[in-house]
Amino acid sequence: MQKPIYILGIESSCDDTSASVIYNGKVLSNVIANQEVHSKYGGVVPELASRAHQQNILPVVQQALAQAKVTKNQLSAVAFTRGPGLMGSLLVGTSFAKSLALGLEIPLIDVNHMQAHILAHFIDDEDSKKPNFPFICLTISGGHTQIVKVTNHFEMKVLGETIDDAVGEAFDKSAKILGLPYPGGPLIDKYAQLGNPKAYKFTQPKVGDLDFSFSGLKTGILYFIQKKVRLNPDFIEENLNDICASIQYTIVEILMAKLKNAVKKTGIKQIAIAGGVSANSAIRERLQLAEKHFGWTTYIPKFEYTTDNAAMIAITGYLKYLNHTFSDVSVTAKARLKVIE
Ligand code: KG4
Ligand code: ZN
Repeated sequence: MQKPIYILGIESSCDDTSASVIYNGKVLSNVIANQEVHSKYGGVVPELASRAHQQNILPVVQQALAQAKVTKNQLSAVAFTRGPGLMGSLLVGTSFAKSLALGLEIPLIDVNHMQAHILAHFIDDEDSKKPNFPFICLTISGGHTQIVKVTNHFEMKVLGETIDDAVGEAFDKSAKILGLPYPGGPLIDKYAQLGNPKAYKFTQPKVGDLDFSFSGLKTGILYFIQKKVRLNPDFIEENLNDICASIQYTIVEILMAKLKNAVKKTGIKQIAIAGGVSANSAIRERLQLAEKHFGWTTYIPKFEYTTDNAAMIAITGYLKYLNHTFSDVSVTAKARLKVIE
């Protein structure tokens, strides 16, 4: 029998403070404290985020241990997000994880947030299947949009990425134009379910190969809304569902076109999605259909492992633990970090 391995994961890269305990690959707890403070500013305010992490981190870790019914002395290692993310936010998790590992005299494991989004697929869960290698992962979040070829747990190659805004930003900025609070992605998804996706047409960006661009789309949506509101001040209110459905449809079309291109280029038909935007109902639906239409095998993460969470950090820590990849206590947070570094 495998010896029991308990990993505490800590995530603090942006505006969610999260802690999770994983036992031999199974999630025992995954506690997330969202920071409401940013919604009225239309985006994350870095200084407020790090202050909130400071307040949240100890209770969140204590709650994660209590829910898992694990004492800190049972922990095998502490895994934490090293980057990429907001420096002030990362420093809170990094310092906390270092102190805890030092105090408990257990290994410290640094985790790359982008790798962790992908490796969330390897959480042991009866309801979800784990991807076979090699697979293509479309990582879509508030900060990143990447197509990654994953050869094994730790060998990943970015085949394409955004040259400007991330897809989550496209959702959030469009929502802001419509007067919706931050983060607007889930709200666009919600209203889109009641609207006509073909009501309005937005121009899709022309960017080569497997790269993405979303800043032009955002400007296109802004000009379209401004023009309509000049003619009818109630345009947004009267057509919110159709506007949201059309924006979402355009974004999902862009993502699907790139995925098809990636399959054509690599010949790999094992397709996963990861990151906050993979919570989107339309992209999840379209991927499920792709199983039937294109013969792909698709891997759609459980809803709770899409947006930022510490279970994905803990599972990556667990895989690194099995691989004997530990960090020195001198490791530092890094705001910019490639998927493999
Ligand atoms: O991965 P994540 O939690 O944080 C980053 O690492 O960036 O992703 C957050 C992003 C936000 O832009 C949010 O609006 C978007 O994910 N998001 C969604 C949905 N749920 C979260 N976008 C579209 N539809 C959703 N259902
Ligand atoms: Zn993320």
